[in-house]
Amino acid sequence: MKRETAQPLQNVSFRPWNRRDIHVLARLARELYAYIESIDPVWRTSPGAEEHLRGHLLDLFTARHAMTYVACDRQEIIGFITGSITQRPPVILPHRDGLIDNAYVNARWRKRGIGTRLCRMLLAWFTEQGVKEIRIHYQVSNQGALRFWERFGFRPWTTQAHLWLSGKSGPGT
Ligand SMILES: CC(C)(COP(=O)(O)OP(=O)(O)OC[C@H]1O[C@@H](n2cnc3c(N)ncnc32)[C@H](O)[C@@H]1OP(=O)(O)O)[C@@H](O)C(=O)NCCC(=O)NCCS
Repeated sequence: MKRETAQPLQNVSFRPWNRRDIHVLARLARELYAYIESIDPVWRTSPGAEEHLRGHLLDLFTARHAMTYVACDRQEIIGFITGSITQRPPVILPHRDGLIDNAYVNARWRKRGIGTRLCRMLLAWFTEQGVKEIRIHYQVSNQGALRFWERFGFRPWTTQAHLWLSGKSGPGT
């Protein structure tokens, strides 16, 4: 069945990040964290999260082993994806691989192919860098993310488990 886009993407452009984007990207990354928090009670964001995210993104930008692609509606950033190349312990192969850090598209712009386009750009960048294996972490409760990544061929691989001690079932209980 042919998919209809609600709104044409003719004004949407895609480009690599620059330093001036970091402020906005930290705000969008904060929105992403709030979204995860809304579907997963274990995931909680600390006060000052946006500032921490800004610092993290600045570190990635400065270290130059990372790349972010942004989608813009005219000048406004409406989505982004960040990936970095990680060095792994020498006992493990491969010695370096790619890690997708964050992927987020503003809710108003989802399901129009923007996330797919951003992801393809990042995978092409990893390939150019000689990276052959990519990892991504996502919450098992994030069914939309699971579907999205599986379309690219990602398959669940390790499991991280969580326990509330003393029979607690949540942070406030
Ligand atoms: C995951 C996310 C980045 C995907 O971005 P997106 O722009 O919606 O992605 P796409 O539009 O390329 O693809 C999403 C779905 O829309 C469908 N789609 C793509 N183009 C479409 C179109 N033109 N019309 C209708 N549907 C379309 C895709 O087939 C895909 O279907 P799926 O549900 O089977 O995966 C976005 O949904 C998001 O920000 N989610 C909240 C945050 C999040 O969970 N991030 C990932 C953390 S790991």
